[in-house]
Amino acid sequence: MVLLNHHASHNTALDAVDAEALGGDAAQRVAAFLAWRDPHAETPLAALPDLAAALGVAALHVKDEGKRLGLGSFKALGGAYAVVLLVLEEATRQLGRPVALEELHSPAVRAIAAGLVFACATDGNHGRSVAQGAQLVGARAVIFVHALVSQNRIDAIARFGAEVRRVDGNYDESVDEATRVATREGWIPVSDTSWPGYERIPLMVMQGYTAMIHESLQRLDAPPTHVFVQAGVGGVAAAVAGHLALRFGDRRPVFVVVEPQSAACILEAARTGVPSRIPHEAPTVMAMLECCEASPVAWRVLSRVADGFMTVADEEAVAVMNRLARPVGNDPAIVAGESGGAGLAGLVQVAGNPALRAQLGLNAAARVLVFNTEGATDPARYLELVGLAAA
Ligand SMILES: Cc1ncc(COP(=O)(O)O)c(C=O)c1O
Repeated sequence: MVLLNHHASHNTALDAVDAEALGGDAAQRVAAFLAWRDPHAETPLAALPDLAAALGVAALHVKDEGKRLGLGSFKALGGAYAVVLLVLEEATRQLGRPVALEELHSPAVRAIAAGLVFACATDGNHGRSVAQGAQLVGARAVIFVHALVSQNRIDAIARFGAEVRRVDGNYDESVDEATRVATREGWIPVSDTSWPGYERIPLMVMQGYTAMIHESLQRLDAPPTHVFVQAGVGGVAAAVAGHLALRFGDRRPVFVVVEPQSAACILEAARTGVPSRIPHEAPTVMAMLECCEASPVAWRVLSRVADGFMTVADEEAVAVMNRLARPVGNDPAIVAGESGGAGLAGLVQVAGNPALRAQLGLNAAARVLVFNTEGATDPARYLELVGLAAA
């Protein structure tokens, strides 16, 4: 089932604050930041012609975020970027003059950063990014993880020198706890989800994510006709959909949001018209997508420029991990973690169902873009689900 969004206007009517955060100029600023951090930061865009043929579409490209900045997921783009922007803002305030990125490692700016503490809740990947950003600027990071976050994922965060605190309960409860403690201690919350009155920093995080669509569009011969993006709280889907709408207006690609069956908070917002916290069901294998409350900022964007909302089952996500690991024909192999291939799993479901194909206009001329949002960020889990060691 795909729930079509009949409200999606084809006139890119985003709020000014969202347009400013997700448009072309913003994406250029992110690209400049990435080039400053690592001149080779761009991730590969793989063409999979044999899988495209098997799915009955003209082209399929997978942007492989498993290779992003040594962190294994696209989340490397958001949290660390927001931390750096916030340090530059604070330095500008304290020094009473504009402070540019090139000064980030100057003694004066490092002294200011050393007095800051950044906090966030995470399923794993976002916390790794905030921890990496804090290490880069010389600040402290305190990362809150919920009861089900694996020890491998905790170790990967701690490797960046962050303090990791375990919270009872699920992801949404860890967000509540991180916010409560950060407010009490005067720390800076760098959340990848938003809530009423807290939107500016999540928009910075989402701005960082625009790099993955900006880079893709630079490499593709022709813009995609269809884009499928997986969602937890909806931040990355909104960043990509918002950027596409701003760039292409009423000629934008058909955009589909894909969620796990057991944690479909965006689909629920699409059903009811407002984001709300849905009950927490059984855990999904797509651990990074196990979120029960949509980010209101993400929803504000998706409610206008996403065309369809759908879910995939755990088996479909695992099947895609295996399909990417053992490609057909001459397609390249791609290491996709549990949540990495969910967008592609959405495409596979639609491609195999004539009614859904017709609903979304997915035909033999379609050129589809999806994102492998994570590599084997938990290598033991990858081995268990795919039967191969992650390269
Ligand atoms: C690998 C991966 N894919 C997708 C997502 C979903 O991102 P968002 O929560 O912004 O929807 C996440 C979130 O942590 C993730 O780690």
